[in-house]
Amino acid sequence: MSSSVFATERRIKLGIWGLGRGSSFLRSLASLNIDVVAGCDYHENMRQGFLKNCPDAFVTDNEDEFLASDIDAVLVATYCPDHGKHAVKALEAGKHVLSEVMAFMTPAEGVALVETVERTGLVYNMTENYPFSLPNLYLAKLWKEGLFGELSYAEYEYVHGVGRCFTNPDGTPLEPGNRVHHWRGWLNYHYYCSHSLGPVMVITGLRPTQVVSLLPEVENYGVIKGEGYHKDGFLPGLGAFAPSLVKMSNGGVVRNLMGGTTADSHNQRLYGTKASAELHPLRVKVGATGSAMHINLKPEWESLGDLGTMAASTGHGGGDFWVIYYFARQILTGEPAPWDVYSSADVTLTGIQALRSATQGGVALEVPDFRDPAVRDRYRNDNWVQKHHDTYNIFPKDQDITITGNFSSVGAKLNPAVTRVRKVLDSMKVFKLATAEDKVAIINIVKELRDDLPQVVEIYREARKIVDAYPESQGGRALRELLEDVGAEERVMLGDKFVAELNEWLIAR
Ligand SMILES: NC(=O)c1ccc[n+]([C@@H]2O[C@H](COP(=O)([O-])OP(=O)(O)OC[C@H]3O[C@@H](n4cnc5c(N)ncnc54)[C@H](O)[C@@H]3O)[C@@H](O)[C@H]2O)c1
Repeated sequence: MSSSVFATERRIKLGIWGLGRGSSFLRSLASLNIDVVAGCDYHENMRQGFLKNCPDAFVTDNEDEFLASDIDAVLVATYCPDHGKHAVKALEAGKHVLSEVMAFMTPAEGVALVETVERTGLVYNMTENYPFSLPNLYLAKLWKEGLFGELSYAEYEYVHGVGRCFTNPDGTPLEPGNRVHHWRGWLNYHYYCSHSLGPVMVITGLRPTQVVSLLPEVENYGVIKGEGYHKDGFLPGLGAFAPSLVKMSNGGVVRNLMGGTTADSHNQRLYGTKASAELHPLRVKVGATGSAMHINLKPEWESLGDLGTMAASTGHGGGDFWVIYYFARQILTGEPAPWDVYSSADVTLTGIQALRSATQGGVALEVPDFRDPAVRDRYRNDNWVQKHHDTYNIFPKDQDITITGNFSSVGAKLNPAVTRVRKVLDSMKVFKLATAEDKVAIINIVKELRDDLPQVVEIYREARKIVDAYPESQGGRALRELLEDVGAEERVMLGDKFVAELNEWLIAR
């Protein structure tokens, strides 16, 4: 596919700010009239990785140098809580902005972002990609055709356990090692609400107007925890659930659920007044009654023409392609993209207000419409933000770094090790009722753990050393939970006796 996707030869010079997720878009860009000519990241390994794909690009760790370079547009894919500030900085430097989710952290930042976009007249889009998966694109098409009638209720989820963050997203250990990830170690999941609410907004064309939420205070094992919500206001991070009910502009209600969990899920259900739908697999229910007829649908990318074929080969089920396509299209042709600054503000503010509602015992709060300057005035100085612990200081100040410096690399090994142990012990408990196929799978994981036990024991020993040195620290507590609550440390450390126990169980099958 050549540059003929758009009826112009004009090219867009793009700089990528934040080269982790930012680099994952490279595949789709050339055929969308975009040349990546600059990159910026603090981390040397990120810059080197980027240069392998873009050897002629200008690369720097200095954001001012980057923004002063010869680029038309910036993809902001820096740390999640910084997108609002960085988008404003890039716009002020005269660049169009495509921002990763979420758009900003506080209502005041949101006002500043909206007004900077309005003043500069530059293009601002957000990369919320989940509405553009193939099934969601089809639902949007059917919705526009009127199949579903009015939205009465929907349930969309982004339940994805990412709370134990011992490494960078590319799997490399954090440096120095006595910390967890910059923001994945503390951000409450309400802030990350666009992968679930976003599709409902795009499919139905409705905006959220009100939100209410309660605060689940139970967090997963092994995540860094604050000192407790009731004690001093620290709020849970990505290792806890974040459910909310959102009123939409037509009066329909959406249950928007995010969460760090013991079972990931992306269940999605839409109820209209004429028909309903659910994903995965995609199925519509027609007849406008409870005993509706269920019809399974099999949409194909190819039916969307060349663009569909191109989208099929990109990340996040094609969604990554469309957000770049819409951004380029708006710059080159002026045609608006689904995620302009106002809809980006709508979804971002829903997350902020949901978390604030939860801290107020579940009071329903408005989702302000920043299209209206008078509404913006009420939030101009609203700097409310989640109270959170400092993920870079999870051991005492006088710590012995020869011990705590191993925390992230040990945590990165311990996490899959305890997961294996938990899977084995719990699947043995339900073995009798399992299907024949699952019985075979269970027997296999038991055998594998038995054979690998010496390595697992070694990882447990390394973790225990850190726990015993700093048992009351946040870092020590996280590892201790993994060892004791998930990893059945006492049994595993029996070594040969535990192997004998597993063998005995295997023989009895
Ligand atoms: N839409 C999606 O499906 C999706 C998927 C993954 C990540 N994301 C979003 O993308 C963003 C980036 O995520 P990530 O996975 O790359 O992890 P990350 O947040 O760890 O990476 C951010 C990168 O930006 C760099 N950086 C941050 N501030 C900088 C600055 N001022 N100057 C130079 N470099 C800077 C960091 O060194 C790091 O490499 C996150 O906000 C995340 O929410 C979205």
